[in-house]
Amino acid sequence: MPSQNMAINGKAVHFDGDDRTLLVDFLRDALELTGTHVGCDTSQCGACVVLMDGVAVKSCTILARQAEGREITTIEGLSGKELHPLQAAFQQCHALQCGFCTPGMILAAHDMIRRGAARDEAQIRHELEGNLCRCTGYQNIVKAIKAAAINQTE
Ligand code: FES
Ligand code: FES
Repeated sequence: MPSQNMAINGKAVHFDGDDRTLLVDFLRDALELTGTHVGCDTSQCGACVVLMDGVAVKSCTILARQAEGREITTIEGLSGKELHPLQAAFQQCHALQCGFCTPGMILAAHDMIRRGAARDEAQIRHELEGNLCRCTGYQNIVKAIKAAAINQTE
């Protein structure tokens, strides 16, 4: 297959690897964007969530070739000099313990807020169905997403 281009965190990136390469492996192994985690490799935990054209996707279920022409955002690309409001909310609400699930949680929340799907606690909990936290920090994660969603609409 010919090599392909995509934008990752605002930079043009060339992929000419094996057709079977998963997006998560390309991000972590070739680009060293190790903020995208691998928790299960079977599309269950959400640790590998990135944004593809703004939509949260599990990068362990997508081939790198499927990202051709797309804009991918990983946790490394979310903030500038300051923390992104979602990162700040997670920090303020103590919404992480080991932090393993956090990049996926934050990027899933980013998409949720963009779609207006973080209106209340019940909806946030429903939306987080595909993201697991093994430290059982859901209470504060939900609180942080709610706080970030409210700040965004104010
Ligand atoms: S590593 Fe992708 S969903 Fe768990
Ligand atoms: S903070 Fe440890 S897995 Fe969620």
